[in-house]
Parts: sequence; structure tokens; C-alpha cells
Amino acid sequence: MKNILVTGGAGFIGSNFVRYLLKNEINIHIYNLDALTYAGSLENLDNLPDPSRHTFIHGDICNRELIDQLFRQYAIDTVVHFAAESHVDRSIFEPDAFIQTNVFGTFTLLEAAKRAWLENTPPIPDVRFHHISTDEVFGSLKEDDPAFREDTPYAPNSPYAASKAASDHLVRAYGHTYGLPYTLTNCSNNYGPYQFPEKLIPLMILNALEGKPLPVYGDGKQVRDWLYVEDHCEAILLVLRQAPLGESYNIGGGNQPTNLEIVENLCEILDEVVPHSPYKPHRQLIRFVADRPGHDRRYAMDIGKISTQLGWKPRHSLAEGLLATVKWYLEHEEWIAAIRQRGDFKAWMQRNYAQRGEEK
Ligand code: NAD
Ligand code: DAU
Repeated sequence: MKNILVTGGAGFIGSNFVRYLLKNEINIHIYNLDALTYAGSLENLDNLPDPSRHTFIHGDICNRELIDQLFRQYAIDTVVHFAAESHVDRSIFEPDAFIQTNVFGTFTLLEAAKRAWLENTPPIPDVRFHHISTDEVFGSLKEDDPAFREDTPYAPNSPYAASKAASDHLVRAYGHTYGLPYTLTNCSNNYGPYQFPEKLIPLMILNALEGKPLPVYGDGKQVRDWLYVEDHCEAILLVLRQAPLGESYNIGGGNQPTNLEIVENLCEILDEVVPHSPYKPHRQLIRFVADRPGHDRRYAMDIGKISTQLGWKPRHSLAEGLLATVKWYLEHEEWIAAIRQRGDFKAWMQRNYAQRGEEK
């Protein structure tokens, strides 16, 4: 592993991973390709450790000529593919970009890797295409169902999940048909620094700080398997270093509160760390709003395979992770102000919550 193409490295998990990799792998160079959609931001890449080993390239993963050129110019030997449209609610209203980036973009990268690595004689050795995916490809669990395993059948429910499932299938197919060396990880809900404030945890923190309503979808009893983003980054690096090619691994936090419990938890943390807030107790801001169409009820990951084979388990408890996250947002007002000015943030928020109607 020397020349790593990270796609989507200006987004939430990608930028955390770029930081983590620069800190923990001292002999690599990162080529960070990102289209800087509404979700990507150069502010996420401020103050990188050892920035001389990081090159940012503004571009689209669907651009075949650009990707071919990057493989040639930088002798890419490893791809870590994060770039995606990632927000389920947006996929329900406007699925087109999800099909384009998540399906066609992944296909474009796979084709480029095949051309660069396999169509030489002999093929380039010691290369790897690592695909980042989600637990949502497995569908929704009932209350007593066992957690998702790597061999759980795919049953994606939203356009986002279906587009990620399609991309996973393409990666496997390129491994099976052409012998493309790949690994794949399916991870549960991440939270932590630099997460775009359309997602549950940062949205609730920022709304609560301003005394705005905290919109809980449906009955708030949906369950997600929350993982602190740095723990996800550690798992990905372990897979890159140690996992046999052709394997997939489930990654999860083992924390499975309901959405309402998460929001109440954040309110309690804010009551403590912002003791003079005029909005205290923050839980008074909670509002039940119309549910997400097709809302998956419960996700849970069985992490037995990655724990046994690679010795990974999450380091952060939910309590530690949530406290660290709240503090990070409190300490990064400039980042928040910059992100709010970007793209369609305001318009999206108004549109999403207008569709969810009045309080129930
Ligand atoms: P994000 O939306 O914060 O970031 C996505 C990044 O991809 C942005 O920087 C964006 O500019 C870039 N991008 C989008 N379209 C692009 C294109 N066509 N070409 C180049 N760059 C493009 O997403 P995230 O939450 O950091 O998720 C990263 C990856 O992890 C995604 O593949 C997602 O499916 C997966 N994942 C996310 C979670 C989670 O909880 N956030 C959990 C499991 C898996
Ligand atoms: O499970 C992994 C997935 O987690 C990733 O693949 C996705 O990229 C990522 O966005 C995330 O999807 P979710 O839909 O689970 O995340 P989100 O933060 O949008 O919502 C988490 C839960 O909170 C979900 O049940 C919907 C609910 N919710 C969300 C928002 C934004 C609310 O109740 N109110 C809200 O305002």
C-alpha cells in the first residue's frame, strides 16, 4: 500500500479516514478525489496531519478519462471508495443522483481499476479495491431477529440502500468474473466530527443549541447500531492491512438505542455542558413528525467475523462518543457557519421538514 486513491474524502467518514490514515500509515500518499457536492467540503480537510502526503483532486467518480488518468499518473495501488450520495431522505425525494454516483460511479471506478491493474502482462501485484458499504443493504430487522451477518440475504428498502446494494454486487462481480482484488465492508450508522447536519445526531445538536424543534420521525422507536466514526476508520485500516482478498466484513458499534433515546441522551448532555442555555431542559424541544416513507425499523450488526479474524472491536462507548461529538460541535462554530452557507442546506431543510407536516 503506497499510493491510495480515496474517493469521497471530503465527506464525513472520508475526511475522518484521511486524517486517520495520515496519522497511522507513514509511508503512503493519499490522492483524495471528491466532487464537492453539498455534502463534501474542503473545510473538512483543514489542519491535516502531514498534509504533504495528501493531494486533493476536485472531480467526479463518473468521469472515466479523469479516473484512468489518475491511475496512470499516480500509480494507484489501493482504492478506498467512500464517494456516494448518502442521505436516505434525499434518495426518497430525488433518487437520480444516487443511481448515477452510487451505481454508475462505482462501475466507472471498477472499470478503471480493471484496465490499470489487470490488463497488463503480468497484472500489477499487491493491489486492492476496498468498497465502503452500509448495513442498509440487508433491509430491516424485527424486534427479535438476530443481527445481520455477512451472509444475510440482501433486501434493500430505500433507493439509497438499493443503489448501495447494486454497487456491492458490482464489486463482487468484478472480483468473481475478472479476478479484481477487492474487499468490502458494510457498516452501521456512524456519528462524530464533521458529519453533515442533515443526519440525525448533528441535526439534533445544532437545532437544540438554537432552540429549534427536534423532529423525531414516527414514534421514534426505530433502532440503529451507532458507531463512533474513528472506530470505523480503525476497522477499515485493519481490513486494508490484513483482510484476505474477496472477503466482506460487517462493522457495527453494538449500541442499539431507539432514535428517541438518542435524542433524549443528547438533550441530557446539552443540559450539562451548556448549563446556562435558555432552552434547558432541551427535551422540551422534541417534536414527533410524520414518518419517513418505508422507514426501516431496526438495524443491528453481528461483528463476530471481523472480531475473530482481525481482532477489531469498537473502542468508544456510546456515552463517550456522544459527549465527544457534542463537544466537537460546540468547539467548531466556524465550521458550522461555513457548512450552513453551502449548497442547498437551507432549502433542503425547509423542504424535508415541510413535507413532514405539523407536530403529531
Ligand atoms: P457524505 O455524504 O458525508 O460524503 C460523501 C462524499 O462523497 C462527499 O464528500 C461528496 O462530495 C462525495 N461525492 C458524492 N458524489 C460524488 C461523485 N460523483 N464523485 C466524487 N465524489 C462524490 O457520506 P458519508 O456519510 O461520509 O458516507 C461515506 C460512505 O460510507 C458512503 O459510501 C456511505 O454509503 C457509506 N456509509 C455511511 C454510513 C454513515 O453512517 N454515514 C454508514 C455506513 C456506510
Ligand atoms: O445504517 C447506515 C446508514 O446510516 C448509512 O448507510 C447512511 O449513509 C446514513 O445516512 C445513515 O442512514 P439513516 O437513515 O439511518 O441515518 P439518519 O441520520 O438520516 O437517520 C437516523 C435515524 O433517525 C433514522 O431512523 C431516521 C431518524 N431521523 C432522522 C432525521 C434526519 C429522525 O427521526 N429525525 C430526523 O430529523
